[in-house]
Formats: sequence, structure tokens, C-alpha cells
Amino acid sequence: MNDYKNITTEEILSLISQSNLPEHVAIIMDGNGRWAKQRRLPRISGHKVGMDSVREVITFSREIGIKVLTLYAFSQENWKRPQAEVKALMRLLQEYLRKELKTMTEKGIRFRAIGETEKLPPAAQDIINNAIEETSKNKDLILNVALSYGGRSEIIEAVKKVLTDIENGKVSADGLDEAVFENYLNTSGLPDPDLLIRTSGEKRISNFLLWQSAYTEFYFTDTLWPDFRKKDMLLAILDYQQRERRFGLTREQIRRGLDAI
Ligand code: IPE
Ligand code: IPE
Ligand code: MG
Repeated sequence: MNDYKNITTEEILSLISQSNLPEHVAIIMDGNGRWAKQRRLPRISGHKVGMDSVREVITFSREIGIKVLTLYAFSQENWKRPQAEVKALMRLLQEYLRKELKTMTEKGIRFRAIGETEKLPPAAQDIINNAIEETSKNKDLILNVALSYGGRSEIIEAVKKVLTDIENGKVSADGLDEAVFENYLNTSGLPDPDLLIRTSGEKRISNFLLWQSAYTEFYFTDTLWPDFRKKDMLLAILDYQQRERRFGLTREQIRRGLDAI
């Protein structure tokens, strides 16, 4: 990619094509701990400043016209972190939702959660359920937050539900295909992510959206999550727009247009 260090946010914005925006952007928000460590601060300070990035990215996604934003906030594996950090993260989540509910309602943001939300502290579950209900009619941006989420267990849970429905005769084994199976995932009804961003220089999926990211474009940046702001998001979108998504076809087929095949 070209060097965009000296380019302004407005200049990047002018290079973005409105007709080729990713409909669904997913983000693995990583690097809060390292951001804090660099400043000799406790890890939680990184998570706190990371919340400002969350706010800015949500606002900007809505403004530019992204339809679905999925944020990986807490993985199933993250429960194994020191209990003080887990507690602090749960508290931050609740604080954030309490503070932002009004803005979400006013700005047409629909809140959704994926993952084992039943494992979260009861108070957090109440706030989440309330946010889902209060924003259920909003249409501008779906904000989908992954909490106690794990891609593999999401698939296993879906398989279990399918088996029950096959036993009950609601679904036939022969009729089971990808489109039917998707209805059993947490992301049912949402399009697959077009673009997946991971911050902090790590280049792995960490059990995120394993089924859904089959044809997602990946974007990795060294920027740590608390430093990731509007300009970084724009750079990710610009990079995405320079790619050719082929879905298994040849470049010639894509260029000629699918109608001509
Ligand atoms: C991401 O930042 C936030 C969560 C996983 C909850 P990290 O806390 O993983 O930050 P690093 O990777 O230790 O820097
Ligand atoms: C992935 O980050 C999970 C979230 C961002 C919530 P981690 O920091 O937990 O991932 P690993 O352990 O480096 O793979
Ligand atoms: Mg990490």
C-alpha cells in the first residue's frame, strides 16, 4: 500500500468511493495492554482509552454509511485473564452501555450482542438486554458486540440446535445447507463481514467469526487499539477498496462481469 502517513483525514475521505463501502466491518480490537505498558500504566488504562476508540469508530461508521459493525470486545478465552482485569472489563462494558444508550437511540444505532452473554454478570446482562430492546427499531447502523464469544463453540451450539430441529422434524437432514445453517448462528440475519480489521500487529483470528469470515478481506495494522481512530478506519476502508474480491472466480470473469459468464 502507498504511504499515507502525511495525508490528511479529509484527503483520504475524498479517495473513498461511497459505492464500494464494506457493508459489514468486523474489528478485533487488540493492543490495549501493550498501549498501557508503553506508558507504564496499568492494563486497565489501555482498556479505558480503548473505549474512546470504540466511540469514535461507531460514530464514524454510522456517518460514512457502514451498515453493520461487529466489535470483538471479550473472547471466551479472555475469562482466563486475571480476575481483576476481567472484573474491570465487565465494569467498563456496563459503564459504556449505560452512558451511550441515549446516543445510540438518538443516532439510529441498533445494538446486538453475540456470544455467551448468559455467562456475563447479571447486571451486565440486564443492561445488554435493555439496550437491545430500546434500540430494536433503529435502522442506521447495527452495532454487534461480541461478548464471551468463541467461533468454534458458536458452531457447536448451532449444530446442537440443528440436531434438535431434525429430531423434531422442523428441518430435514437433506434440506440442511449453508443458508439454513446460518440461521442457527448468533449472527443470523446479518451479512458476512466484508472487512475484518485487527489492530496491534497480531495476525491471527483468535476464534472470531470462523464461519462468517470465509470470504472476508483481512486488514492488519500495527496501530494499537487505543490509538485507532477515524483516520485509521478510513485507511482500512481505502485498502479494502483497492482489492479485487474474486470468490473463487478468475480475474477475467470478474472484470467481464458475472452476466457475461
Ligand atoms: C484487547 O487488548 C482487549 C481485550 C482482549 C479485552 P488486550 O488486552 O489483548 O491488549 P494486549 O494484547 O495485551 O496488548
Ligand atoms: C482477541 O484478543 C480478543 C479480543 C480482542 C476481545 P486477544 O488479545 O485475547 O487475542 P490473543 O490471545 O492475542 O490471540
Ligand atoms: Mg491482546
